[in-house]
Amino acid sequence: MNNFTFHSPTESVFGKDTQKQTGKLIKQYGGGKVLVVYGGGSAERSGLIKDVTDALEEENISYAILKGVRPNPTDDKVYEGIALAVREGVNFILAVGGGSVIDTAKAIAMGAVYPGDFWDFFKGSASPVAAIPVGVVLTIPAAGSEGSPNSVITRIDGLHKLSCRCQLTRPRFAILNPELTMTLPWEQTAYGITDMLCHIFERYFSNTTAQLVNAYSEAIMREVMDHALSLKINPEDYEARADVMWAGTLAHNGLCGVGKEEDWATHRMEHEVSAIYDVPHGAGLACIAPAWMTFVARKNPGMVWKFAINVMSVNPEGRDTDHIIEEGIALLKDFYHDLGLTTSLTELIGKEPDIDALVKSLEGNMGKTLGFYVPLSMDDCREIYKLAL
Ligand code: NZQ
Ligand code: ZN
Repeated sequence: MNNFTFHSPTESVFGKDTQKQTGKLIKQYGGGKVLVVYGGGSAERSGLIKDVTDALEEENISYAILKGVRPNPTDDKVYEGIALAVREGVNFILAVGGGSVIDTAKAIAMGAVYPGDFWDFFKGSASPVAAIPVGVVLTIPAAGSEGSPNSVITRIDGLHKLSCRCQLTRPRFAILNPELTMTLPWEQTAYGITDMLCHIFERYFSNTTAQLVNAYSEAIMREVMDHALSLKINPEDYEARADVMWAGTLAHNGLCGVGKEEDWATHRMEHEVSAIYDVPHGAGLACIAPAWMTFVARKNPGMVWKFAINVMSVNPEGRDTDHIIEEGIALLKDFYHDLGLTTSLTELIGKEPDIDALVKSLEGNMGKTLGFYVPLSMDDCREIYKLAL
């Protein structure tokens, strides 16, 4: 295990009706004027926005509203939010939604106190030194942004989907009420499950020895897969919703990566797909992850073999490594298919993707090599996109 610092200071407030505590929590973290950010309307329709604004009014907290954040969020909404936050003089930002809303809130939080262009932080030409505090009421367990320091935004001009990591934007609190996720359409639950599993893959597939971390990572992956299938039958199963919601946070708050060299090639390759073709992030991952595993197992089979046995429950007796790995990856694909997802990029996009364009954009955004479990050249990435067709 490598040396590490683990500091994941978000206060998680978990359970039924917890959204009613929003006002008190914002007050506790010094908020007096709040920008409430949300998406395309699901939070209005469910009554959640009313619950949240009632909770603010009870504490005499004034607020402004920014609505209409879209999935795969874009820079235009961030600029709109920065202008509003500055005009209204807000000192706290509340994201009510999923990864897209939270990431937009984080980008506004950095941009509203910066004299330059917030995109400087995403392209890496400047580092944020301040940010307005952010809080979250989560409505979809998926991106893990409620406990992460990351924000992922797409710049419309050029379709660059980039991530900015800034500890200042780690949410002060995250309200996690599993009941709020019962209004999710099934496919969004499925995309979320795919995403949280992949957040663990990015950390699990590593060359660093970390037995304890691997053991609890495997347990989280197995539980999520079990619950995914029971939620498909009964979307209102509170206990399953609760475990999946908590797993989404644990998958991406750093716990599963402590002491390990993390990979992140699958995510980087997927971000090109969702930037150019505007598909849901989790749907893209279901295509890229098995293709990536197939490719890296040829060069470095160890962890893929372990994953096949310990997570996908392949019986190793009397089988050679190649067959164990092959069956493990086939079972992972079956799992995605059982969720109703495709593992073919061509099927997802509705046509064969332009692999040259994907690789060109990937190289422009990330440089000539990607990942650590097996460092990938751009030719390797091209091969993985082909395996995902
Ligand atoms: O916009 P509304 O109407 O709210 O509908 C949303 C949206 O259409 C809907 N939804 C959310 N909660 C709902 C609901 N519908 C009914 N009931 C509810 N309770 O779900 C749709 C998807 O929402 P979105 O926020 O886009 O989903 P997700 O949380 O999967 O976020 C995806 C974004 O996060 C980025 C992804 O790349 C993508 O842009 N990521 C962010 C990360 C981070 N900040 O750490 C890490 C991830 O790897 C990921 O890259
Ligand atoms: Zn992700």
